[in-house]
Amino acid sequence: MSKLGGLSKTAENYKIIEVPENHKKVLDRHLIPGGFVGHEEVDSPWVPFGDNAAIRHLAFDVRQNWYGNVLWIKSPGVIGTHKHRGQVLMMCLEGSVRYLEYDWVAKPGDFISETPGQAHTLVTDHPQGVKLFGWMQGANEFYDDTGKFIETLDVWWFINHYETYCRENKLPINKQLYR
Ligand SMILES: [Fe+2]
Repeated sequence: MSKLGGLSKTAENYKIIEVPENHKKVLDRHLIPGGFVGHEEVDSPWVPFGDNAAIRHLAFDVRQNWYGNVLWIKSPGVIGTHKHRGQVLMMCLEGSVRYLEYDWVAKPGDFISETPGQAHTLVTDHPQGVKLFGWMQGANEFYDDTGKFIETLDVWWFINHYETYCRENKLPINKQLYR
């Protein structure tokens, strides 16, 4: 039987274990705690992104320009052509999504990774659109349909998107989103 987990125990047998830490005083000074963001609007609202989409922000890391969120496209639609300058990891949660440039369609449970330098155009053909969890790093450069640069979306853009909506709708800023 594994000693690492999966053991069958009743809940009252679980307990918190203190584990050795050689540098506890250093950790006590510098450790940055992880966070928890609940699923309700008050924890993080759906912020409109264009006419047919919304973003639910989950994490902002200003040191490494990482940000995590759920993108919801509410009916068949497109996210314009963009080029990544960092890595993207995504999982399809609901509906389906594809890119004009690739031959696959992602459905719930499917995992997508994108790499710096890739440029592509995201499409959902599903009647209910798509919900996509994404963990992204660096800049996304957006281009119009003639290939002309429009705007860079990075961690600062995402923070501004979240905070502007909260301010305008008198919602609290949830500090748990900030790493
Ligand atoms: Fe992308």
